[in-house]
Amino acid sequence: MSQSRREFLGGTLGGIAAGLLSGSFLSASCAPEKVCGKIASSDPQRNVTPSLDNIRDQFELDWDYVHLAGLLISSNPRPIRDSIERYRLALDENAALYLKENMVNHEEDVRYAASRYLGTRREDIALTDSTTMGIALVYHGLRLQAGDEVLTTEHDYYSTHQSLKLKENQSAINVRKIRLFENIQTISEEKLINRLREGIRAETRALALTWVHSSTGLKLPIQKISAAIKEVNRQRSQDRQILICLDGVHGLGVEDIDIPKLGCDFFMAGTHKWLHGPRGSGIIWGNPERQNFVGPTIPTFSRKTGWGSEMTPGGFKSFESYWSTMHAFDFHRRLGRKKITEKIHSLSRRLKQGLSEMEHVTLYTPLDQNLSAGIISFDIRGRAPGDVVRRLLEHRIVASTTPYTPSYARITPGIYNTEAEMEYTLRVIAKL
Ligand SMILES: Cc1ncc(COP(=O)(O)O)c(C=O)c1O
Repeated sequence: MSQSRREFLGGTLGGIAAGLLSGSFLSASCAPEKVCGKIASSDPQRNVTPSLDNIRDQFELDWDYVHLAGLLISSNPRPIRDSIERYRLALDENAALYLKENMVNHEEDVRYAASRYLGTRREDIALTDSTTMGIALVYHGLRLQAGDEVLTTEHDYYSTHQSLKLKENQSAINVRKIRLFENIQTISEEKLINRLREGIRAETRALALTWVHSSTGLKLPIQKISAAIKEVNRQRSQDRQILICLDGVHGLGVEDIDIPKLGCDFFMAGTHKWLHGPRGSGIIWGNPERQNFVGPTIPTFSRKTGWGSEMTPGGFKSFESYWSTMHAFDFHRRLGRKKITEKIHSLSRRLKQGLSEMEHVTLYTPLDQNLSAGIISFDIRGRAPGDVVRRLLEHRIVASTTPYTPSYARITPGIYNTEAEMEYTLRVIAKL
């Protein structure tokens, strides 16, 4: 940790707490044993293993609806709701003292839970508020030289495009966009990889990609792409290596893979979508061999050393949510990553098969599960996507439209959906 940060945290934060503790402020009602972090952080349900069989008991979703838009923002299962409430009570009771005693440990607990779930080292993980924040921090913090280029695609989300535009405006780097396919119906892993490889120029220093596209539901074969880039990097010097930066939000909590095995260098994702974490939570993972290419933007309050801590934005925040992210990682890990993947892929497969057999429907998401995850995009002949979503809602099915041009109707099954709901949804779409 840098001297200035240690001084600030040891001085200011420590000073605030010490000041509070030294006076008559420490009354009987806020004695340390009462506000001690162990009370707030322990999860009474920790020893109860959650199961996909009765997963709906964990959520307070309104079951009069079929929820197929969970990719936007999650509903929190019980352990996370309870955790937020426990922390809120502890903070409301004695915020300054609680922070002094627990701030460092709780943040480390989140990082530890994240590292177990993601299959990474804890010091390589930064904690953020969202995918957008992670993306902005990585692209803003990229250490590139004048004339270097970031190559992205036309299929990425607004947060990637806009972060790169801001970076381009304030530095001497260039950003270029390519299309990965003209027609998604004829897509293949090989064609995607070739398009990317052909797009690379001598000045290309970073790829800005998205694991699962929220426009079409296409899942990039990221391990194979990484292997192809590794080959390109073999011909380059250490300081000209191409970095792979990945918006992983629609793969995290769906796909059963340790993040370092994807082969990317920087992985940014919100944990408040498929992982059902507190709203306003996310992570960045940085490959230890490449972390020196991205530096921090927002001053951290973390007292731990390591890239992940340096990259974790500081400031006092909504700590009850921030710390409760730990339970999102634990909840998914205890449910079983593999089982979750199987369930979401199985529900998606049924929907895609059903839609692909309907004459009035155009399915944009590949049927191949190597090229798709839990997002399904489609069109109904003669109907605007917004109209499709409105009609589905009349049948109590919550769907969304894709915020891209062209826009499609989109449905995304989650861990709480049932096969019966998929059949019902298909019956409704068949009649639209
Ligand atoms: C691909 C993609 N990345 C990022 C985001 C924004 O995520 P967050 O709300 O976590 O910033 C979205 C929107 O849901 C998205 O579809």
